[in-house]
Amino acid sequence: MILLDGKKVSNDIKNEITEEVKKMKAKGEKVPHLAAIIVGNDGASLTYVASKVKACERVGFESTMIRMSNTTSEIELLDKIEELNNNPEIDGFIIQLPLPKQIDTQKVLMAVDPDKDVDGFHPMNFGKMALDMSTFIPATPFGILELLDRYNVETKGKHTVVIGRSHIVGRPMSILMGRKGFPGNSTVTITHSHTKNITQITSQADIIISALGVPNFLKAEMVKDDAVIIDVGITRVVDETSPKGYIITGDVDFENVSKKASFITPVPGGVGPMTIAMLLKNTLLARELRH
Ligand code: GUN
Repeated sequence: MILLDGKKVSNDIKNEITEEVKKMKAKGEKVPHLAAIIVGNDGASLTYVASKVKACERVGFESTMIRMSNTTSEIELLDKIEELNNNPEIDGFIIQLPLPKQIDTQKVLMAVDPDKDVDGFHPMNFGKMALDMSTFIPATPFGILELLDRYNVETKGKHTVVIGRSHIVGRPMSILMGRKGFPGNSTVTITHSHTKNITQITSQADIIISALGVPNFLKAEMVKDDAVIIDVGITRVVDETSPKGYIITGDVDFENVSKKASFITPVPGGVGPMTIAMLLKNTLLARELRH
């Protein structure tokens, strides 16, 4: 079993980006600037955005975090987006999801200038992705592709089973794994809450990408020998014995599934750090496209 070490690979990527930023500075160019809007006080979302800001500092990017209250109206958020769209200092920005109930997420995502949409969530960018055109690929799926690439995991002709059809992970992942090229050329099955007899499907998979958010959902008996296992789950599970009062738990029963897998991502330290590294990569791309 080989561990797909997202912590190490994301560090390598951050080092590569740091070098790019140094070159930009040496030439007197403006460094990439990422902004992140966060609406409300969700603990996990605040932690993720803080990690994104910290990662910007680490590679030498400028960053701006915009906090808005839980009672922010849709109009107020749309105004803020317009401001960022028109601000020449900002190369790319994200709106951390989920948003409070009073706000229509699709409407908000459609208001983002596609050229600054470093999350790749705008329908124009999502469509380009599906049509093999160059664009911003959503950071988590992009991070998974990068892991498969850097570990040379064969995907051509393999049966990839994606668990979950979220707009952020499952849906784009299912498209990307079936695209021409590497990583890609897989035969893809996407499963979700209405899928019947999921074990019958997962046990035929060469590659399983689980983005469900149910701790320890994927058990050893659902997986065939030598399968490649990608665990996107990052659920906070209460644990009184840990310093934070919770532990981050993946979708995969790692202890038992890892005994059968050929490659597997740990949680934490697998897909999570890759997501942040690829957001930085998209921000670098946005900056290059704008200059
Ligand atoms: N919420 C969970 N994952 C993501 C992500 O990749 N981007 C944004 N903006 N929000 C998220």
